[in-house]
Amino acid sequence: MGSETAQEFYGRWASLYDLIARRTPGIPRLRRRAAAACRLDRGDTVVEMGCGTGANLPYLRERVGPEGTVIGVDFTRPVLDRAREHTAEYDNVHVVRGDATRPPIGRANADGPTVDGSVDAILATFVVGMLADPAGAVDDWCDLVGPGGRVVLANAASSDAWYAPPVNAAFRAIVVLSTPPTTKLRYEDDPHRRLDAKVDAAHARLRDRSAAIADETHVFGVVRLTGGRIE
Ligand SMILES: C[S@@+](CC[C@H](N)C(=O)[O-])C[C@H]1O[C@@H](n2cnc3c(N)ncnc32)[C@H](O)[C@@H]1O
Repeated sequence: MGSETAQEFYGRWASLYDLIARRTPGIPRLRRRAAAACRLDRGDTVVEMGCGTGANLPYLRERVGPEGTVIGVDFTRPVLDRAREHTAEYDNVHVVRGDATRPPIGRANADGPTVDGSVDAILATFVVGMLADPAGAVDDWCDLVGPGGRVVLANAASSDAWYAPPVNAAFRAIVVLSTPPTTKLRYEDDPHRRLDAKVDAAHARLRDRSAAIADETHVFGVVRLTGGRIE
């Protein structure tokens, strides 16, 4: 258990995670809003990094229409299986196994198809907190979409709203319960502080690199949504 990896953790909890990802109050609205912040036109190509069980993919598909392309990237097989089930009805939604920090876009991918062509927008929800260098990953995603492209992040972090204490207490409990107990990802000293720092770094880097499209909070202030058009 002590050495469980993030992939084993999400793989084991795929069904439960899927339920939480789709049914938590306020989350469907957030997902719709995050997809809107990608500012997609019909026919566009959008990539979701760390797509998990695919809860965002239908909202993205709705935006790009049947003529666009939606690509979900994740490194955990069981969650990808779920994502494939949920999007089986669409022939332009592709779920690809790969590392969000080395996305299989325009490069060879041993685990699935290589995605060629340009990307109009990248979405990553509840993912950057799991990366070793979240700001570096955001830089790479900004470079990937290039000037005019959009990058959108949504992440849970402690709230500073007036009603924050009970919300933050609940949030901390969820972070402790949902952080894979690996030596890399679970820290004895306050995992929520580590998460806050990573989320801060990722969102700050996106703000530095882009003109704001969205900068708002959701779900009682614990979910931050930042979207930008790369300059
Ligand atoms: C908390 S879940 C969020 C899933 C989805 N984005 C959502 O909003 O429901 C985090 C997901 O990120 C994936 N993930 C974490 N680090 C990754 C990486 N470096 N490359 C690809 N996937 C990654 C995990 O496998 C997991 O499915």
